[in-house]
Amino acid sequence: MQQERTDTFPQPLGLFDLSGRVALVTGGTRGLGRAIVRALAQAGADVIVASRKQDACEEAAAEVRRLGRRALAHVCHVAHWDEIDRLVADSYAEFGQVDVLVNNAGLAPTYPDPQGVTEELWDKTLGVNLKGPFRLTSLVGARMCEGSGGSIVNISSIGGVRPTHDILPYAAAKAGLNALTIGFADAFGPKVRVNAIMPGPFRTDISRHWNHDAFNERAKTFPLRRAGEPEELASAVLYFASDASSFTTGAVLAVDGGAQWSLAGGGDAVPGYTSIYDGKRDWT
Ligand SMILES: NC(=O)c1ccc[n+]([C@@H]2O[C@H](COP(=O)([O-])OP(=O)(O)OC[C@H]3O[C@@H](n4cnc5c(N)ncnc54)[C@H](OP(=O)(O)O)[C@@H]3O)[C@@H](O)[C@H]2O)c1
Repeated sequence: MQQERTDTFPQPLGLFDLSGRVALVTGGTRGLGRAIVRALAQAGADVIVASRKQDACEEAAAEVRRLGRRALAHVCHVAHWDEIDRLVADSYAEFGQVDVLVNNAGLAPTYPDPQGVTEELWDKTLGVNLKGPFRLTSLVGARMCEGSGGSIVNISSIGGVRPTHDILPYAAAKAGLNALTIGFADAFGPKVRVNAIMPGPFRTDISRHWNHDAFNERAKTFPLRRAGEPEELASAVLYFASDASSFTTGAVLAVDGGAQWSLAGGGDAVPGYTSIYDGKRDWT
């Protein structure tokens, strides 16, 4: 029979403590990324915030400092590997370590139909959602292995496992990110854990371009009947980032209010199917 470890087992809430750790979050300026940055700082981590816009990074970094942590604002277009290399070099120069990496930056462009997907849209979607995380994980994961280890969290999407006709390049990229999660868990174990979270529909800038009538109809079929709020995603990131998930790697967790089990497939086969995307999203 297994022995009870009342004497040595850490207190559950203490497992989420990130004091003394450094986290790097891409796309940390708004939406889910901003909530993730805030939650990591509240748990005690210093945070490097990266996105394409310096002002936005500075603003998020200022919030981290107000919470009493150190912060670095760093411009980086994650699809550009030279910029990723600089981000990694500057992060280690500033803090000497990265303990948590959150590959969150992403975009989900809309298009009229599959034939209307341009090579530019395809390359950009795969670049930001897949190629960037591959490079950043390769570099940071290797440094974590040389050092004292770490945790990498990839923000994927339920689109990766429940693709519909209106998100094909995005779904392919996120399915690839799920595969990278498992592969990198193998590559960087045992010192580094790599996990992914698949958000369902969350209220962020992305949702400004939903067809809200279509979404509200669809949401009636979700087990939890609604979209998520960014803080509800950030708490799952805290779990994977911290020692609370010390025996979990290569896992892909849906945080979606159950939406993946009821999202309709698309096309003419589904009577009354209306895309929740309004086709107006700016993806440049
Ligand atoms: N919201 C949802 O319903 C939902 C559902 C499933 C999955 N997700 C995933 O969750 C993640 C965050 O989504 P979100 O809804 O929070 O998006 P969002 O509100 O549009 O925020 C996107 C973030 O990524 C940054 N970003 C965009 N392109 C970038 C690039 N090329 N290089 C670096 N940073 C870039 C943006 O900052 P800048 O503009 O300053 O670069 C911003 O900080 C994404 O990976 C997305 O695919 C979201």
